[in-house]
Amino acid sequence: MPDRVYNFNPGPSTLPYPVLQEAAKDIVNFHDRGMGIIEMSHRSKEFMAVAAEAEALVRELMGIPDNYKVLFLQGGASTQFFMIPMNLLGGNKRATYLNTGAWSGKAIKEARLFGEIDVAYSSQEAKFNRVPKDDEYTVHPDSEYLYFVSNNTIYGTQFPEFPDTPTTLIADMSSDIMSRPVDVNRFGLIFAGAQKNMGPAGVTVVIIRDDLLERTPEAAVPTMLRYKTHADKGSMFNTPPCFAIYCLGLVMKWLKDRGGVEAIGKINAAKAAILYDAIDGIDFYRGHAEKDSRSNMNISFNLPTPELETQFVAEATAAGLVGLKGHRSIGGCRASIYNAFPREGVEKLVAFMDNFARSNG
Ligand SMILES: Cc1ncc(COP(=O)(O)O)c(C=O)c1O
Repeated sequence: MPDRVYNFNPGPSTLPYPVLQEAAKDIVNFHDRGMGIIEMSHRSKEFMAVAAEAEALVRELMGIPDNYKVLFLQGGASTQFFMIPMNLLGGNKRATYLNTGAWSGKAIKEARLFGEIDVAYSSQEAKFNRVPKDDEYTVHPDSEYLYFVSNNTIYGTQFPEFPDTPTTLIADMSSDIMSRPVDVNRFGLIFAGAQKNMGPAGVTVVIIRDDLLERTPEAAVPTMLRYKTHADKGSMFNTPPCFAIYCLGLVMKWLKDRGGVEAIGKINAAKAAILYDAIDGIDFYRGHAEKDSRSNMNISFNLPTPELETQFVAEATAAGLVGLKGHRSIGGCRASIYNAFPREGVEKLVAFMDNFARSNG
């Protein structure tokens, strides 16, 4: 393996090294076909098999029941912010949203274009440092769905339990999909941009229960923006993001080899615990999230001053620990430690944090 830095970027983010190696080879010559994977027709036998295998692995790893479709779409997770209400709120219906950070805020703004939106909970005043428990909000009885973001990438919070509601549950799992077991049966729709836990940027995975495909209003929803269009054509209505789907399949194989979602969930919890122990144990660092809302994927923290934070990020980068600058909206530092991020990198960061605090505290 060549010298690689420890890449704490929030997305696109580090990928498993064997995946990069295989992709590098297949870009030039896929399985001795004399052409690379990115040069092939999406309707070729070879690519159709790649896409089918990627979907089968997503289904197997997440235990997705037969009455759900798995779609590989484009437009990023942000396109789902409007596709969901456009397809499910025709005729000015209602939906309930939990506002736990910048990504839910953007989704709420888009949803308001299509229906009546209740924001049943917001942690904005506390700088989004927590997520709610079930008894902290009520879902309007006429709601078509309850929407929440399972992991807040910027603020470093994560729902430890998913909301318990009779309403259709919809989750943006962009930054924690496949990082822990999920009972898909509890959801109407789950979506995720792939660029954190599933592969490179360019493909958005949508897992949608069959009955929701029939809810789209007849008029005023363009063909490309209807879930049913893509469901009916197995995500091949138009040219799909071939390379991203191919890489996603490789990441799924890697995850399966590591024991699947349950096994990686334990590894992720152990990795995050190492970092939180350092933050709690050294009186120099301060975690952003309240303890019972802490994310195992994105760990946002502060140092005593912004100047020290700048110095910390610069010295960490020089030491091969890159991508630790916090999001511009909250500042501070953030370590994103998705599935593919190695435990050794977390241990190196903790040793660095210890030294830095000693020298500057
Ligand atoms: C939780 C969450 N939702 C949505 C998005 C937006 O994703 P995209 O850039 O694919 O539109 C992000 C991006 O980081 C995210 O973290």
